[in-house]
Amino acid sequence: MIKVSTNYSWIAAACLLAACGNSASSDKSAVDSTATKAPATASVLPDANLFKDSLDGKPTALYILRNKNNAAVAITNYGARVVSLLVPDKNGVMTDIAVGYDSIGKYIHQPESYFGAIVGRYGNRIAKGRFSLNGKEYKLATNNGPNSLHGGLKGFAAHVWDAKQLNDSTLELTYLSKDQEEGYPGNLQAKVTYTLSGDTVNSLKIDYEATTDKPTVVNLTNHTYFNLNGQGSGTINNHLLQFNADRYTPVDSTLIPTGKIEPVAGTPFDFRQPTAIGARVDSPNQQLKFGKGYDHNFVLNASKGAGLNLAATVLGDQSGIFMEVWTMEPGIQFYGGNFMSGSNPLKGGKRDDHRTAFCLETQHYPDSPNEPSFPSTVLQPGKQYKTSTVYTFSVKK
Ligand code: BGC
Repeated sequence: MIKVSTNYSWIAAACLLAACGNSASSDKSAVDSTATKAPATASVLPDANLFKDSLDGKPTALYILRNKNNAAVAITNYGARVVSLLVPDKNGVMTDIAVGYDSIGKYIHQPESYFGAIVGRYGNRIAKGRFSLNGKEYKLATNNGPNSLHGGLKGFAAHVWDAKQLNDSTLELTYLSKDQEEGYPGNLQAKVTYTLSGDTVNSLKIDYEATTDKPTVVNLTNHTYFNLNGQGSGTINNHLLQFNADRYTPVDSTLIPTGKIEPVAGTPFDFRQPTAIGARVDSPNQQLKFGKGYDHNFVLNASKGAGLNLAATVLGDQSGIFMEVWTMEPGIQFYGGNFMSGSNPLKGGKRDDHRTAFCLETQHYPDSPNEPSFPSTVLQPGKQYKTSTVYTFSVKK
């Protein structure tokens, strides 16, 4: 069971969302006439044989988790990544809502390398690839202009993890990130467990754990690119998005937070009511210019207790698939697929066209190691990093 920790304005907003359903006539929803129809036929899982390979002396494979409702998730141990996620749409048609490739070779060689992956040791950016800990400066590999992004040149997404399928619906993956890998201090033993449940609602839970033998920083997240109308089915601009976030962290031109935490009220970052993703994405706003659209961390409203807090909801305008994101993390990075350009061949002969998927990366804020006022990402030896995120999937007709 998910422990609900929320506030009244969020409940009011959730009720409003339930009431408005997937009405395409909502003021803010009809923004993109290029929207295509949800797939009429059921999606299928990728061929597991196309994921059998070997990299850095370790075997790669595809693991399938199912629940009693026949929802399924395909995960490869290359980057501990979600390859496919099949859930029913409003007509009961199984729909693959996770963007991905159909073979391990494409994950290794195609330019977009984060589809579905666990990113680490530090999800998102660290300014100029530098931070200090206990008076010592650490220099990281930079791979995104002047900054370090998603763990550096070869982050956790590009390593083969050790996988153990515990039962039909649970997969455990572990990875040892060695001291000084990409410049980070300490041997970090990371464990990620995916569990697909279906008791009250179809849900995918991700449990993250890590320990270290030297003080270090850690910020793990999952980088699934979602399209709730089906991967590769067209724009996400008509999806209705809601955040349980009154504030966000504005960025500079290299997408590093300025250190300020600002209210979303009166800006295109106000998603406190369900709003079409594309309704304001091209408005003349300096922050949207820096991000080329949405590429920002939202500061989640404080949870009233430990445990999972409802962070976001998204409704697929064509499919009626309704996703909730619950997390223990203080922030969520909303990336609207601004850098997608149709250059990557997706499963089923589809393409990753501009803004045809979104990511909701539950996390600590970007560049926290250089911002003492942000919640800390430091992990000490003898302590355990432990956090969870759950995505639930239902439908609204
Ligand atoms: C970043 C984007 C980046 C994307 C890569 C997001 O988390 O914030 O700037 O392009 O990941 O897939």
